[in-house]
Amino acid sequence: MHCSRRNFLKAGTLAGMVPFAPKALFAQSGKVSELIAQKAAFQLTPEGYAKTEIWGYYGVSPGPEIRMIQGTEFSTRLRNELSEPTSVHWHGLRIENAMDGVSGLTQDPVATGEGFDYSFTPPDAGTYWYHAHNRSFEQVGRGLYGAFIVNEQDAPDVDRDEVLILDDWRINPESGQIDGAFGAPHDRSHSGRRGNYVTTNSEGNYSLTVQKGERLRLRLINAANDRIFTLTTVGFDGWIMAYDGMPLSEPEKLEGNLFLAPGQRVDLFVDVTTEPGENAYLARIEDNQGYAQATFIVDGSGSQSNRGAPAPLPPNPNMSIGKLDGATPIELRMEGGAMGGLRSAVLDGKTMDMRQIADANQFWAFNGVVGLTDTPLARLGRNETARMKIINDTSFPHAMHLHGMHFREVFGDGSLGPLRDTLLSFSGQTREIAFLAHNPGKWLFHCHMLAHADSGMTTWIDVT
Ligand code: C2O
Ligand code: CU
Repeated sequence: MHCSRRNFLKAGTLAGMVPFAPKALFAQSGKVSELIAQKAAFQLTPEGYAKTEIWGYYGVSPGPEIRMIQGTEFSTRLRNELSEPTSVHWHGLRIENAMDGVSGLTQDPVATGEGFDYSFTPPDAGTYWYHAHNRSFEQVGRGLYGAFIVNEQDAPDVDRDEVLILDDWRINPESGQIDGAFGAPHDRSHSGRRGNYVTTNSEGNYSLTVQKGERLRLRLINAANDRIFTLTTVGFDGWIMAYDGMPLSEPEKLEGNLFLAPGQRVDLFVDVTTEPGENAYLARIEDNQGYAQATFIVDGSGSQSNRGAPAPLPPNPNMSIGKLDGATPIELRMEGGAMGGLRSAVLDGKTMDMRQIADANQFWAFNGVVGLTDTPLARLGRNETARMKIINDTSFPHAMHLHGMHFREVFGDGSLGPLRDTLLSFSGQTREIAFLAHNPGKWLFHCHMLAHADSGMTTWIDVT
């Protein structure tokens, strides 16, 4: 496989070579006194180039990795030092609604200079992440996110545990700064804002040194605004262990390509099979070409020989979705966007034609309605099972994310898919998901392509 890195930067601007401060790593549990959202100059582009102004937690992106043990309480105070309001969402954590961090639905946005106290006990082990949830299309796009890892009580048998956060940035090659045209109508009405600088943990050329025979746990998180990553590994024997934090009952051998839509995570166990002196890769596929998304430099051999397939990760509590017979049906038809044929829809309570909707910089509708409304898509009783048909009547893929609860896909033959919180739906597909409404509150349901979420693809579900 051909692996090369895409070069986007013009040679030029040179700045002082100040390496950025090592990322703070919070302790194994409990209290993180503050989480400060702030602007900062950050070495995003390769060293030798000017620093880029980002918005990040503690001024770095990804923000500090939060790692704790399942069943312990987490608490922190968000402090907003940005020049606009913000809030923090704990993506994929099945926690109480008041802590979900959605500005305008579960809390008021936190004004500049103000704070907000979050505290909750994550019930599930796995790979989650936290990110801004006010004007996310810009705040996440400028770097306000980090990993939230919940360790199993008994550590699984791996030699290393590595978090790889994938992102893409739209950088102006002249200035080295983030392109400020967030919310551009062309991005919104098509596949969203795609970056020209693809990174892992904010490095364009991310690498780790490993040994042959080592078993690594790779926790992949797609933090990009809109990009779907198509991934494969080279030089490893690998297994898929979990999707969106939730363990598979049987690890799946990793073969072929893997899609990772915005918001989604996957946990892999990979055994290094490459000989010392060579490289193994996490590669992304674009236009049939492989690019190194992360390079693993194999230096020496570990003592372990072939260990065979791993045992599954321990299940999380409450992974059942209840009974499908008698489940409450919900239908969600996605419409709009470029080449979509949507003629009119309801915006702010008024029926408008597509031109008026586009004038408001909106482009998408769910069941003929653009954006968040006072009434939910569905009201469900607590512990009711819902079965939702999702019809993608647009020309683009979408990554539908449900807050507060995980779902399973229901296939045509009645079999169920893995528990997930974000469904990647392609143009023209009709898919079905089912979930148990175990968590009371107002839960957002939206496309995690953040350009789409802000231009119509957001609704909510009320669990009472
Ligand atoms: Cu990760 Cu509502 O989002
Ligand atoms: Cu979308």
